[in-house]
Amino acid sequence: MQATLTALVAKAQTDLAALPNRPEFEAAKARLVGPNGELTALMKQMGTVPKEQRPAMGKLINETKARIQDLLDAALRRIEAGELQAQLGPAVDPTLPAPGGGPGTYHPLTLVREEMCRILRKVGFTVADGPEVETEYYCFDALNTPADHPARDTQDTFYFPDTAHFGNVSRKTPGEKYLLRTHTSSVQIRTMLKGAPPIRIVSPGRTYRRDTTDATHSANFHQLECLYVDKNVTVRDLKALLDYIFASLLGPDTKTRFRPHYFGYTEPSFEVDLSARHLPKVKKEWIEIGGCGMVDPQVFAGVGYDPEIWSGYAFGMGLERLAMLLYGIDDIRYFYQNDLRFLQQFA
Ligand code: DAH
Repeated sequence: MQATLTALVAKAQTDLAALPNRPEFEAAKARLVGPNGELTALMKQMGTVPKEQRPAMGKLINETKARIQDLLDAALRRIEAGELQAQLGPAVDPTLPAPGGGPGTYHPLTLVREEMCRILRKVGFTVADGPEVETEYYCFDALNTPADHPARDTQDTFYFPDTAHFGNVSRKTPGEKYLLRTHTSSVQIRTMLKGAPPIRIVSPGRTYRRDTTDATHSANFHQLECLYVDKNVTVRDLKALLDYIFASLLGPDTKTRFRPHYFGYTEPSFEVDLSARHLPKVKKEWIEIGGCGMVDPQVFAGVGYDPEIWSGYAFGMGLERLAMLLYGIDDIRYFYQNDLRFLQQFA
């Protein structure tokens, strides 16, 4: 019996060490310790062993059982480690540079944003930033946009629940509603409240509206805002600056025109159209690109600037629209899909 047990352990040792996978492991386990297994059979023979040998034999069988269990555990651990390794695939050295793809490229919106900021910096503008979560005061009231204006409709604008709180976004009055800014014009107010004129800022950033997505609309898009405050600023200065920036970005053949419009925060107000037929895919003669005007005296009064002394202009435009013109992109959704085939064209 002792010899049989020793032989069984020796055989189990070689067999189990060679098992390649879990089904074969289960089969081998059944052959050894299953109801009809070899060890089970030997244990059943205990009854035939003479009484005085039984304690010694019982000890031996228990030791054999423990030994075989150890061998089974070791084999299972080895098979599991192999399975994990197969799932993980070949070893990776995370310190190596990423394979393929090169060093990456800038997003077309980043390219247009940076180019516009560069063009504006050349004529004295500095980049200003403002929060994407805004309060009604900075987004609307201070911009002379009263509570009954359609832009303030909850169907139009993303409001936060009354319980929301953003510690880093200052409120004018306690309890004021938070919302996702519908335009970058709120940065005009934040900038003017921070310091005295003259002011010359450009503020690019993300904006939000309750729009249903299609080829030309997105609930999340980007704008670029400019504000200039100084003495004796006129519409001529505004037109000259717009002519300069669009000619710089889109080429000297680009023309601009103003159409009278209404914005609460400028008087007079205009919509700006571009003519850039030299660009690829531009079929229409005039394309609307943004809004502008001379800062309304009410807005100046609200931020504590004397409207008798200070004058200024402001404008805002969509960055997507500019990038679409510049690169001949015909669907706004491409900007947000992160399809490398699209993005890599702007290297
Ligand atoms: N905020 C306007 C919009 O989102 C654009 C705009 C119009 C900005 C006139 C201005 C401005 O600064 O003076 O449609």
